[in-house]
Amino acid sequence: MYTRIMEVDPWVIKSTTLDKTHKRLQESLTSLGNGYMGARGSFEERYSADSHLGTYIAGVWFPDKTRVGWWKNGYPKYFGKAINAVNFGKVAIFVDNQEVDLAENEVSGFSVALDMQTGVLRRTFTVFGVQFCLTKFFSVAQKELALMRWDVVSADGKSHHVKIESFIDADVKNEDANYEETFWQVLNKKAFTGGAHIAAQTVANPFGVPQFIVNAQQSFAGDFTETAHRQSDWQVSNTFEAEVGEAVKSFEKRVVVTTSRDYENLDAVEAAGRALIADMEQTGFADLLAAHENGWRQRWAIADVVIEGNDAAQQGIRFNLFQLFSTYYGEDARLNIGPKGFTGEKYGGATYWDTEAYAVPLYLSLAEPQVTENLLKYRHNQLPQAQHNAREQGLAGALYPMVTFTGIECHNEWEITFEEIHRNGAIAYAIYNYTNYTGDEGYLAGEGLEVLVEIARFWADRVHYSQRHGKYMIHGVTGPNEYENNINNNWYTNTLAAWVLGYTKAALDKYPRPDLGISEAELDKWADIVANMYYPYDEVLDVFVQHDGFLDKDIRPVSALSPDDLPLNQKWSWDKILRSPFIKQADVLQGVYFFGDRFDIDTKRRNFDFYEPMTVHESSLSASVHAILAAELGKEEKAVEMYERTARLDLDNYNNDTEDGLHITSMTGSWLAIVQGFAQMKTWGGTLSFAPFLPQAWTAYAFHINYRGRLLKVSVNKQVEIALLKGSPIALEVYGEPVQLESVYTTALKKQGA
Ligand code: BGC
Repeated sequence: MYTRIMEVDPWVIKSTTLDKTHKRLQESLTSLGNGYMGARGSFEERYSADSHLGTYIAGVWFPDKTRVGWWKNGYPKYFGKAINAVNFGKVAIFVDNQEVDLAENEVSGFSVALDMQTGVLRRTFTVFGVQFCLTKFFSVAQKELALMRWDVVSADGKSHHVKIESFIDADVKNEDANYEETFWQVLNKKAFTGGAHIAAQTVANPFGVPQFIVNAQQSFAGDFTETAHRQSDWQVSNTFEAEVGEAVKSFEKRVVVTTSRDYENLDAVEAAGRALIADMEQTGFADLLAAHENGWRQRWAIADVVIEGNDAAQQGIRFNLFQLFSTYYGEDARLNIGPKGFTGEKYGGATYWDTEAYAVPLYLSLAEPQVTENLLKYRHNQLPQAQHNAREQGLAGALYPMVTFTGIECHNEWEITFEEIHRNGAIAYAIYNYTNYTGDEGYLAGEGLEVLVEIARFWADRVHYSQRHGKYMIHGVTGPNEYENNINNNWYTNTLAAWVLGYTKAALDKYPRPDLGISEAELDKWADIVANMYYPYDEVLDVFVQHDGFLDKDIRPVSALSPDDLPLNQKWSWDKILRSPFIKQADVLQGVYFFGDRFDIDTKRRNFDFYEPMTVHESSLSASVHAILAAELGKEEKAVEMYERTARLDLDNYNNDTEDGLHITSMTGSWLAIVQGFAQMKTWGGTLSFAPFLPQAWTAYAFHINYRGRLLKVSVNKQVEIALLKGSPIALEVYGEPVQLESVYTTALKKQGA
């Protein structure tokens, strides 16, 4: 079941329908961002029907008091939320004194088109005899700048009086249920001839979390004449008017947003806003646009994945890369990648394990190593807070949070906060991944070990020894499959915990760190846990068992359900979901994927064949891991189905929840499915290898990767071509054969599974 409201096009997300029933979906799909700020594609003009207006600024958040009836020790005191920030896009348009309301008026000639190649959105509509064409972007050349230009022309041969009032509005709310109150207060505001600004601050909180100041400043250019300006409690505005006939007249709104994340106090935030806007006024629209477009072109030069023969697949991967880079391009080491980016409030916009498990592999290949190192450092900087989280649970070491802005856990569902501790392993895994991919052990030996040792200490304390079995166990957890809670011995969690202990010990052997005060007794305990960890396994099925009680469930495939039951999380009670065998996302298979070099192909096949049919993929993270494993197992049809699901998850609204925002952290999944799946790129044991296949419905695909100081281009059509575009020759494996890549290596395409 899917809903496709945008046309299929390789580079553009477009529609000519003002679709009121899917308005929120259209808004999510036309979101824009530049890593610093962004907004949903809600209309700037008045639209009085259902819509979700959302403007977000990276790293600006609010700690909302955790409210539960029965408080349990260890609960985080607050739930951190990305908050809807000052609405600086808003305009009110009047044609011949009638106010435009795109929900109510008869609108013709509607079109919306988001050009992913250049990061520019264009929206056209005709109302009351006047055509408006909006061009909008959040500059990637100047992060504080958002630009909107309306080109206005008569559509009926008559002359019309057009008035545009341009606002900055601080009276915004979160959609989120936890917020009954306003979380902004206006500190300062001024409207004057030629511009206006509002500085707003997040309201005080009792948790010691710093308040944020955001200042939005507008100025104008174009053919309209200013006739008024005004200010009220929450808003400032400037009004412009023009007689519009056959000649196009433009109205240009420039907004600069500065925050206390970059400047220390109100005066500095405002002064920076004034200076930047004055600076912007020296440059014309065309030049500002060109600088922005150029930024996007440079990104695509490395990142683009070209698919021939299937425009839907092509559009999917580009959409995902576009939205991912709109959220995070690694410029600011203080930031991370929120699951909804700048496209919605759900999931709080904070940092999850998604970054380490799903985003790090992509950034390793598509960005300079520094970007991934910044993501690792982000966690290192938060080590004291992770130690605090462990202490809150009465445990040693460091427990990285499930959801966070500062390192302090700020998710308030007990089964996630207390139990979904597998996340702590993913933080360690990313350090391994970085080290193995880049070949640079410097990070591991330094900050890496500081993080690893504390995570290892957590696991060593969290396991317990079962006398009866003579094994170490981990009880009371939630695995990646959140459709079961409070389970014992989740195979994935146990596997990851033991791996962390072993990896950390081996790294310490290589890079001793007396400064970390690790005793021999501690190391012996780690070794004992590694040697005696309990892993649920079934001899008859010969599969790893998801957790102790899993096989006692009413085991049946998703195909046994009626389509009306899906998605389960929208159709079934939570009780029914928890007791069912249906799996939200890769769980055992997440481990099989992470540790792919440990398991032989038959083991992978048995586990895949057992678990995949029970998996509903209701986490957007699920499909990519399944695509990768299916590809490795020669299951082309399944791999392609899973690719399509990850690539077009939002474009086709597969999980029926894209109206809340895009699944940003899952957007790496389509790239992973192509590169690690279809092309079978592996870096096991530090050797780069490929074993590509070409999906039947495609005629070709090609991508670039950065690898250890080289830039490679991999092209797959009737043959496989690997070109060394930059850097020194390198030893690879292609279809299991050693290859010394000097410039270009070509070989015949092998059939899948061959
Ligand atoms: C998934 C988690 C994920 C979170 C944020 C949940 O639905 O089950 O694994 O971390 O979404 O993307």
